[in-house]
Amino acid sequence: MNSKVSGALWALMAFLSLGIAIGSFRYLLPNTPGIPPGVAGNVMRHPWLVLHAGLAATALIVGPFQFIPRLRAARPRLHHWVGRIYVVACLLGGPAGLLLAWGTSAGPVAQFGFGLLAISWIFCTAQAWRLAMARRIVEHRRWMVRSFALTLAAVTLRLYLPIPPLLGIDFVEGYRAISWLCWIPNLLAAELYLNRARLWKPATLAT
Ligand code: HEM
Repeated sequence: MNSKVSGALWALMAFLSLGIAIGSFRYLLPNTPGIPPGVAGNVMRHPWLVLHAGLAATALIVGPFQFIPRLRAARPRLHHWVGRIYVVACLLGGPAGLLLAWGTSAGPVAQFGFGLLAISWIFCTAQAWRLAMARRIVEHRRWMVRSFALTLAAVTLRLYLPIPPLLGIDFVEGYRAISWLCWIPNLLAAELYLNRARLWKPATLAT
């Protein structure tokens, strides 16, 4: 990919991540302002929402910086420490997300959508961490791309939320669909990115 295009995509990803994360830190304030009514009805909200929002937002803030090759090369110790923060945030924020999935007021479709997202997030992050420990760096990077694609579900979910009302679709119906759509296309995009060299190899002429 052209370095200007990848730089612009990275900047967009970091900007959206930062915006969503800052908004999510409001859950750490006493008497959280602006809780969506559906989320307020989550039976697992106390205490898991505060824990989940704080940890997952931390993963969203630090994640983009781990993908800057020059930073990784110049400051490997910083990369290791920020990586540990990311992994701890995902591996604790993920189970809290799983409990919230169980408690959602949007019914079984959303329970399964968010639940599978949580399990996939925990799995991809744990794989990436295990491979880093084993110094299998190429595979470690591939699993981190998958893990962060799932972390970005927090961004895609909030980008999609205004769409159902615009299309005249009932909000809860739309929310159920979004509990799946916020992460499956992200994972597919990550796979396309990881396999880009193979997929876009110029066709060789048969001799
Ligand atoms: C990737 C795995 C994630 C899973 C499985 C997950 C799961 C959930 C679930 C089930 C809820 C409750 C929704 C409801 O009751 O209907 C929730 C709410 C929330 N999550 Fe996550 N989440 C994930 C990632 C993130 C990330 C990366 C952030 C970072 C900002 C985040 C921030 C929040 C916030 C702030 C809420 C409260 C709802 C709102 O204000 O929009 N989540 N999450």
